[in-house]
Amino acid sequence: MSGLFIAFEGGEGAGKSTQAGLLESALRERGYSPQLLREPGSTCLGEYLREYLIAGAPLTPVAELLLFEAARAQLMTEKIAVALDAGAVVIADRFAGSTVAYQGYGHGLDRQQIEWLNDFATGRRYPNLTILLDIDPYIGLGRVQGRQLRLGLLADDKGNRFEGREMVFHQAVRCGFQQIADAGSETWRTIEGNHSIEEVAAQVWDAVAPRLPSLPG
Ligand code: TYD
Repeated sequence: MSGLFIAFEGGEGAGKSTQAGLLESALRERGYSPQLLREPGSTCLGEYLREYLIAGAPLTPVAELLLFEAARAQLMTEKIAVALDAGAVVIADRFAGSTVAYQGYGHGLDRQQIEWLNDFATGRRYPNLTILLDIDPYIGLGRVQGRQLRLGLLADDKGNRFEGREMVFHQAVRCGFQQIADAGSETWRTIEGNHSIEEVAAQVWDAVAPRLPSLPG
């Protein structure tokens, strides 16, 4: 028995966490018991690494890459594989595509090596469906800044390690995601992130519904 593995990908402020949460609720309403996970995170090691990765001291790109992969290896074995083997629906807020886009296209690390590391960390278990929420980084980062201001953070706060990077980095990440999605069109679906939350959620549902396993019993 194998469940359904869905991942959300996209740049900063694309709406991944919102849509992942809405999908989780929609599935619960229909009787499923999905597992919502985030990367990096959702295990003790992953949450520990997340703090460092997002807000710790400077990291070399290679060290950063290996920490993301370590978090992923732990998450795959401890949570994702277990849930899928039990027939559950797993929703991941970011997964291996983020590493290709951010560390590969963003930082310029060798993409074949990243793909090898992704295979190694995941045991080649990849999402059945990855939803790319595609958004212009100017709009996405504007949303992130608006959220930070609403939360009372300083206007000159550069946000996390990634949000503070130059626009060319974010443009490269976006372009990377688009290329990965084009190359993997059987399992990737691109949805424009610059629509209302409800519109995007409806498109996410259209992509997910035909792939859902039947409910037990
Ligand atoms: P997070 O707060 O989860 O960002 P978002 O809300 O935009 O999803 O922070 C995770 C950051 O880590 C995000 O900026 C993207 C980055 N990241 C990578 O660079 N490589 C990776 O493999 C993953 C999973 C995330």
